Amino acid sequence: MYFIANWKMYGGLNSLNSLHKVNKFFKTFKKNKSLRIIYCPPNTLIRPMSKKLKKSNIEVGAQNCHEKDSYGPFTGSVNSKMLKNVGAKYVIVGHSENRQAGETDKLINQKIKSALRSGLKVIFCIGETLSQKRKKITNKVLNKQIKLGLNKIRNNSKVFIAYEPVWSIGTGVIPKSNELFTTINFIKKKIKKSKVFYGGSVNPKNINELKSIINIDGFLVGGASQDSKKFIDIIKKTYN
Ligand code: 13P
Repeated sequence: MYFIANWKMYGGLNSLNSLHKVNKFFKTFKKNKSLRIIYCPPNTLIRPMSKKLKKSNIEVGAQNCHEKDSYGPFTGSVNSKMLKNVGAKYVIVGHSENRQAGETDKLINQKIKSALRSGLKVIFCIGETLSQKRKKITNKVLNKQIKLGLNKIRNNSKVFIAYEPVWSIGTGVIPKSNELFTTINFIKKKIKKSKVFYGGSVNPKNINELKSIINIDGFLVGGASQDSKKFIDIIKKTYN
């Protein structure tokens, strides 16, 4: 199982102090070989976090990248090559918070290609909005996001899919178990052999319900991942 901590725009250098708890927990838990933990902090923390986790099996990723992997006059931007250079092994692409800010499927496709060229693994986010869910066009929306996002990418082996319904992010509301199972199945049929994660309001209270959905390969945790106690709790409960 994968547990990905997406810190979003939170955290300073002092936030790294809490990592030793997760690290300690992971070491004692290593018996379970399937456990993978990936932290995606803001770019400012990738380097110090990678250094701190050097001797641990916890990996570090970024939350976004520019679509070009060459250098260029793009003020404020960071590309996948630069992220790799400071220790990132993964990058989240297509998060709904960026889609809402104007990121298109085409741009997402360029970002994924660029990240793969730089040797990063990609956590590719897809998900429908509440109004799309109400219109019952979830599968159509996901299909389009997958098709355009992975356009002309022949080798998907380094791409993980994160299904994050927009209406579930930061709201405390999670999909009904049977609906989530069906949607994950739908995605798995579209992208064969890819691991599919779920993200949206994952917390220590709802993890027992979520872990019972057997086709989920991991979780993307936003808010609850900033609190290492809650994050550890989520992992522990998953394996209990
Ligand atoms: P929350 O866990 O805060 O709902 O965020 C989910 C998310 O966006 C993970 O990428």
